[in-house]
Amino acid sequence: MKLTDRVALVTGAGSGLGRAIALLFAEEGARVVVNDVRLELAEKTVSEMKGQAGGRAIQADVADSAQVKAMFATIERDLGAFDILVNNAGIAVGPGDDRAGIVRKSEARIMEMVSGQGAHTHLDVTQNLSDESWRRMLAVHLDGTFFCTREAVRLMSQRNRGAIINLSSVAALMGLEAAPHYAAAKGGILAFTRAVARDVASRGIRVNAICPGYIDTPMTEPMSPLIRAAVIARTPLGRPGDPREVAATALFLACDDSSFFTGQWLSPNGGLFIG
Ligand SMILES: NC(=O)c1ccc[n+]([C@@H]2O[C@H](COP(=O)([O-])OP(=O)(O)OC[C@H]3O[C@@H](n4cnc5c(N)ncnc54)[C@H](O)[C@@H]3O)[C@@H](O)[C@H]2O)c1
Repeated sequence: MKLTDRVALVTGAGSGLGRAIALLFAEEGARVVVNDVRLELAEKTVSEMKGQAGGRAIQADVADSAQVKAMFATIERDLGAFDILVNNAGIAVGPGDDRAGIVRKSEARIMEMVSGQGAHTHLDVTQNLSDESWRRMLAVHLDGTFFCTREAVRLMSQRNRGAIINLSSVAALMGLEAAPHYAAAKGGILAFTRAVARDVASRGIRVNAICPGYIDTPMTEPMSPLIRAAVIARTPLGRPGDPREVAATALFLACDDSSFFTGQWLSPNGGLFIG
C-alpha cells in the first residue's frame, strides 16, 4: 500500500475523477476526506470505500473561502495530520451558458469539415459569455484551488511535508474553443502550480498538475454522440479515458514514487495532445 496512514482531501469527490481518486487512495491505505458541494454525493463515495482507514464526507463550496477555512479547521481538529490535497472540484458549464447552442454549432462545423467544405459556422462563444459565467468558472476552479492550497500549505508546513495535485486539463495545453472560460481557468491552475511548487519546495511540499484528455465521467456525459466521436477520432489510442487511469496518475503524484517531481504536469490523454 502506497498511502498508509496518510490523510488526504479530494475536492469534488462525489463524482467522476474525484470519486475514482478518493476510492483508490482509500484502497492504498489513506484516510480520505471526501469533499463535494453536494453532500449526498460525497457521502455516497465514502459508503463505497473499501479501505481499512475509511473516509469522511465534508460539504463545502470550494469557491467560498469561509467554507474552505471551516473545512480545513474540521480536518485539523478531527484528523490531526494532513498530507495530500487533490484540487479536483470543477464545472464545465457556467451559469447561463448556451450549451445547446454551442453543441449545435460545433456539430455543424464538424459536418462542414468532414464533408470538405471548410469551417463556416461561427461558434461565437467568447462574445456571448456573461460576466457571471466567466466569474463562476474562475471562482470554482482558480479561487477554489487557491483557497484550498492556502489552507493545505499552512497545515503541511507544521511537518514540512506534503503533496498537492491540481486538476488542470488538455484545454490549458491546446485550447478549447467551446469553453474559453474553462480553458483560462485551467491555464491559470497550471501557472499557479508552477509558482507554488517553487514557493513551498523548501518545506518538502511537492505541487504537480494533471491535464486529462477526454475521460468518460458525468461531466462529459452530456456531450453529443457526434462531438464525442470527433474527439475520439483525434485521440490516437482511439477511445476515451477511464477515471481509474486518471486516479492512477494522481496516486503516483501523491505517493513517494514521485518524490523528485514538483512543478510538473502529467497528461493522461491517449495522445490527444502530444507536447
Ligand atoms: N472528465 C474529463 O474529461 C476531464 C478532462 C480534463 C479535466 N477534467 C477536470 O477534472 C475534474 C473532475 O471532473 P469530472 O469529469 O470528474 O467532473 P464531474 O462533474 O463528474 O465531478 C465534479 C464534481 O465536483 C463537484 N463540484 C462542482 N463545483 C464544486 C464546488 N464549487 N465545490 C465543491 N465541489 C464542487 C460536483 O458536485 C461534482 O461532484 C474537474 O476539475 C474537471 O475540470 C475533467
